[in-house]
Amino acid sequence: MAASRSQSLAPVIAIDGPSASGKGTVAQGVAAALGFHYLDSGALYRLVALAAMRAGTPLDAERAVAALAESLPASFRNGETLLGGVVVTDDLRTEACSAAASKVAAFPAVRTALLARQRAFRQPPGLVADGRDMGSVVFPDAGLKVFLTAGAEVRAERRYKQLIDKGIPANIDALLLDLRERDARDASRPVAPLVRCPDARLLDTTGITVAEAVATVVAWYREAA
Ligand code: CDP
Repeated sequence: MAASRSQSLAPVIAIDGPSASGKGTVAQGVAAALGFHYLDSGALYRLVALAAMRAGTPLDAERAVAALAESLPASFRNGETLLGGVVVTDDLRTEACSAAASKVAAFPAVRTALLARQRAFRQPPGLVADGRDMGSVVFPDAGLKVFLTAGAEVRAERRYKQLIDKGIPANIDALLLDLRERDARDASRPVAPLVRCPDARLLDTTGITVAEAVATVVAWYREAA
């Protein structure tokens, strides 16, 4: 009897949610706990935005930006992200890059260009993928889908601490405004908008620690397996 495609592929835990909801930290914790691979899909959109800004490609030129996405010379090594062999991990986290990423991510051609690259991360023994459309578009057959959220103020505070810790100057009011703008743009775009899939479990991280969030997702995965 032929095994279904999803049975023959490595398991996936899809973690989606709005900006600074803690997706990345929780997803990495879950991946470490289970010994799974990790995909930070947002980093790919940030890389495309950075590549476009560096090449002087206008962010509203869909075809030209999608062409950059097709042949993106990106790699991930020892927790660092490289573009054209140069470490750009911190450049990707600036607010300019965050805003640009959310703009280029609205283009269908850019999203299509990144699809195969994202799916290639699905390797044994399993993958934890975080983003906006991991459960809805990229890995619709994921064994566990989680929608991670937190109040906007808490998310702005977390992003503020993250930036200050990295020595990047930040303003909390501007961050809150930017988060709200980005949430609205990500949720209202016609292609792959940020939505909670009906089959995703909701995890609100407002009042809980990272360790508690990781433990919850790992427990859900074990329940579902
Ligand atoms: O860390 P944060 O949640 O702020 O952002 P991110 O996950 O690094 O994603 C940066 C931007 O890429 C988001 O604002 C989204 O517009 C876009 N994105 C997307 O459209 N689809 C994904 N799967 C991941 C990110």
